Amino acid sequence: MSKLPTLRLDRLLANLGYGSRREVQQLVYADAVTLDGEVIEDADRRIAVTRDLSERMTVDGKPLDPPPGLVLMLHKPLGVTCSHKEAGPLVYSLLPPRWRRRDPALSTIGRLDKETSGLLLMTDDGALLHRIISPRNHVSKRYHVTLDRPLRGDEAEIFASGTLMLDNEDKPLLPVEMETLSETSAYVTLTEGRYHQVRRMFAAVGNHVTVLHRDRMGGLALPEDLAPGEYRVLTEADIAQVLPSSR
Ligand code: URA
Repeated sequence: MSKLPTLRLDRLLANLGYGSRREVQQLVYADAVTLDGEVIEDADRRIAVTRDLSERMTVDGKPLDPPPGLVLMLHKPLGVTCSHKEAGPLVYSLLPPRWRRRDPALSTIGRLDKETSGLLLMTDDGALLHRIISPRNHVSKRYHVTLDRPLRGDEAEIFASGTLMLDNEDKPLLPVEMETLSETSAYVTLTEGRYHQVRRMFAAVGNHVTVLHRDRMGGLALPEDLAPGEYRVLTEADIAQVLPSSR
């Protein structure tokens, strides 16, 4: 279990979105915060921020929110945007309101288009985020693709060639693996994350993606019982499936 630095209790709670420093001090003075079953009296007590803190600390009788270093998977539904500021429904609105006030803030690890559904990771751990999206680490992403027209038959070879150039780009795509599922559907697995990559790849071979869904990142699959719009906090073991030796 990784050990994180210590933080003053009032700073920890304020950073988790429970209120201003002054507001969380009031919570402490009202005996609303416990650690290992005992009321904490001092708002300036330093707390070792371990991964299991939510199991050991309560606020107003409820388990503490996940401490910093939070990683979660969201089943992104269609029609929501991976952005902090664009207009319209945002992925962050699917999380508990307090989680939107966290510092450091949660960010998406890469993006899915508004009209793409599926596995989206989010974290407040900037270093982990960069390791997962870094092309050097080759984290694979698998998409289930539904197409407007039947496959021609040469797509898998073209995608695997490492020579396919997308419009307005000057570097060919790294090889992409394609597994045909039916005349009009396939899995594609890629390690890059270029803008609208899957849709543009199929446009480059004269087709059109009608439905796009990501179901896997590295060895981590989107669980079948996680409905669109639902999220789950990841364990260290889950994270290691995305990126071995991640933290
Ligand atoms: N490729 C796309 O075209 N869209 C996505 O959301 C992800 C990959």
